[in-house]
Amino acid sequence: MTLYEQTLKPLLFSLDAETAHEWGTRALALANSFPPARFLVQALYADNTPEMKTTVAGLRFPNPVGLAAGFDKDCRLAGILPALGFGFIELGTITLDAQPGNPRPRIFRVPETEALINRLGFNNAGAEAARNHLRSLRSRPVPIGINIGLNKDAPQREAPERYAKTFMHLYTHGDYFVVNVSSPNTEGLRRLQEKHKLERILLALQEKNGDRKPIFVKLAPDLPVDALEELLPMLEENAAGVICANTTNSPERKADMLEEAQRLRGRPVHPPFQGGGVSGRPVEDPSTAMIREVYRLTGGRLPIIGVGGIFDAAGAYRKIRAGASLVQLYTGFIYRGPSLPSSIVRGLAALLKSHDLSSISEAVGLSHGPQLDPNRTPS
Ligand SMILES: Cc1cc2nc3c(=O)[nH]c(=O)nc-3n(C[C@H](O)[C@H](O)[C@H](O)COP(=O)(O)O)c2cc1C
Repeated sequence: MTLYEQTLKPLLFSLDAETAHEWGTRALALANSFPPARFLVQALYADNTPEMKTTVAGLRFPNPVGLAAGFDKDCRLAGILPALGFGFIELGTITLDAQPGNPRPRIFRVPETEALINRLGFNNAGAEAARNHLRSLRSRPVPIGINIGLNKDAPQREAPERYAKTFMHLYTHGDYFVVNVSSPNTEGLRRLQEKHKLERILLALQEKNGDRKPIFVKLAPDLPVDALEELLPMLEENAAGVICANTTNSPERKADMLEEAQRLRGRPVHPPFQGGGVSGRPVEDPSTAMIREVYRLTGGRLPIIGVGGIFDAAGAYRKIRAGASLVQLYTGFIYRGPSLPSSIVRGLAALLKSHDLSSISEAVGLSHGPQLDPNRTPS
């Protein structure tokens, strides 16, 4: 058990999940504004494994373990998050206009299954506020991804124009961008995963993408394989890669998870709200399966960022072997604490060594065997 799990976690877990998040982010903001505290965080948690460097979509990453979207929705913490050992950070989701999100409570922990259920609904201060926070950033030691979404009350036909405006507002501040069409908490958003709708959004962004910045698309783990088969050739044309995956809103997966939690708790587990997306341990396998499928369908040509239920190096390595070039985490960070990114990076370095591999890129897609290795020269 880590120091965080013995000390801070019981305190934070005694609070409502969103209040705990606010306390945690306030502490990080405070550390950011006080150089000795920032230095201490860096000394405790920074990653010191130069052999874990990797290049994906033309960007150089000091290590392949990133922070997933949703933790820093307003880009207030970009100055301190790299000090926790992340190799990249994804900020947002940011919508063009500010919006309050759904009423509270809107995040619920299910500790028995190491899961969270959230129905936040893109609560954020909007693109202008995010830009102002990013303008004051003094250094950028790791790549910054900016994840953009659609306002709740925006008509879907305006999606290409609105995504493009949000993109332009933040363009100079992001090293890569993510089109989020997979949050389950904005009604109808997932319909934008339909091929032609998504293509229109991507074309609107690429038209303005003068510096050819990598644009990823974040997908839902609930997409059926035939939808993926239809979508992926278009994404190979118009996007730099995909992120697999967002939270699940599959009623079966949620019911199975709550049943398991009830069995372990010995009494019923009732979230205080309907709906929402499940993250953490219950999405580990669905997300890894999706990574495997995307890698197989694209022959490994489309870079994949793997996210969902990563709690340790072995889980990160499973996603990399399934086809992810980079990984991200959110829920694991809540359950395991600030030492998790650097401990995963160290664990990955040890795994590479034990398999006689000299870089992360050599492990990407290994579980598919040689027939799917895109670097293999035909014999
Ligand atoms: C509280 C919470 C808020 C989230 N907000 C966002 C978001 O704004 N945009 C987004 O693309 N994903 C969001 N996510 C999804 C995560 O980025 C990630 O895809 C998902 O939680 C699976 O990873 P995990 O199991 O490591 O948490 C959120 C997840 C959680 C738990």
